[in-house]
Amino acid sequence: MKAFFQGAYVDMADANVSVMTHALNYGTGVFEGIRGYWNGSDEQMYLFRPKEHFERLRLSAKILRMAIPHTDDELVEIARNVVCSGQFREDVYVRPLVYKAAHQIGLSMVNPTENGLGLIDDEFTLFAVPFGAYLDVDRPIRCTVASWRRISDNMIPARAKVAGLYVNSSLAKTEAVEAGFDEAIMLTEDGHVSEGTGENVFLVRDGRLVTPAVSDDILEGVTRRTVMQIALEELQIESVERTVDRTELYIADELFLVGTGAQISPVREVDGREIGDGGIGPLTGALQDLYFDIVRGVDARYRAWCTAVYPATAVQT
Ligand SMILES: Cc1ncc(COP(=O)(O)O)c(C=O)c1O
Repeated sequence: MKAFFQGAYVDMADANVSVMTHALNYGTGVFEGIRGYWNGSDEQMYLFRPKEHFERLRLSAKILRMAIPHTDDELVEIARNVVCSGQFREDVYVRPLVYKAAHQIGLSMVNPTENGLGLIDDEFTLFAVPFGAYLDVDRPIRCTVASWRRISDNMIPARAKVAGLYVNSSLAKTEAVEAGFDEAIMLTEDGHVSEGTGENVFLVRDGRLVTPAVSDDILEGVTRRTVMQIALEELQIESVERTVDRTELYIADELFLVGTGAQISPVREVDGREIGDGGIGPLTGALQDLYFDIVRGVDARYRAWCTAVYPATAVQT
């Protein structure tokens, strides 16, 4: 199994960084998570919307003053090559990462050069691992509202998938798990619903989908966008992007979390309040059915979102 590291395909065991790496010490990296879905009938692995993830990686990198020395097409090719090297026949998770690679003590991302200030070096790397469900999708999960507030745009922008930002998510997730919940939902500094620790949030209220606005310190999720599009195109249900109060979580008809890892995970309880009848709501279930057919390349109408990894005959047994 190979990783793409320092411009070459190397064995995973050789894709290592120094303890002095800026990103390891200060969290100065940006990353993505892309799912690869194994389709046994097609004998094929499909990467779900890899271009959209690489576009977001580029925007995250821009916020951290980083450049990615590859086009989006090249990045998709690197992802395909890395997954191919593993010859996986199960679902995988692809992790691209751009990080500040300088070996230095000191926080600045610029250093003096002959011509003034220059940005410190960054590196692009990508690896893939087998990956099953992150949150339950068949059984509704239990959530709590985190005591940790979502970090705001003027602290560390949640819109960028910054490595160091995930300390915020890890604190909230750990608190939730230790209290016996499956997941935490975080509020913005001013007390409105932001997102899960690694997921966007959707509520169903009076037959409409509601989700926090992009200005509520969320990661602008690829799955969020996907769900809004398929809800509209396939179910004729519009999504409203707006500020959401905490107590709307408690009284929602249905509630679910979405993300590359979480996929579409139904929620049955928030802080002791049962959501709906505690089962998978009808709209949540309908969206799950559509989503899982789409990501696995079964729904031909959305095949353009799925990038085949293996050459047609490479994985035949
Ligand atoms: C904090 C956070 N919000 C939302 C999401 C969902 O984003 P996407 O659907 O692009 O995976 C993720 C997952 O990547 C995340 O880490």
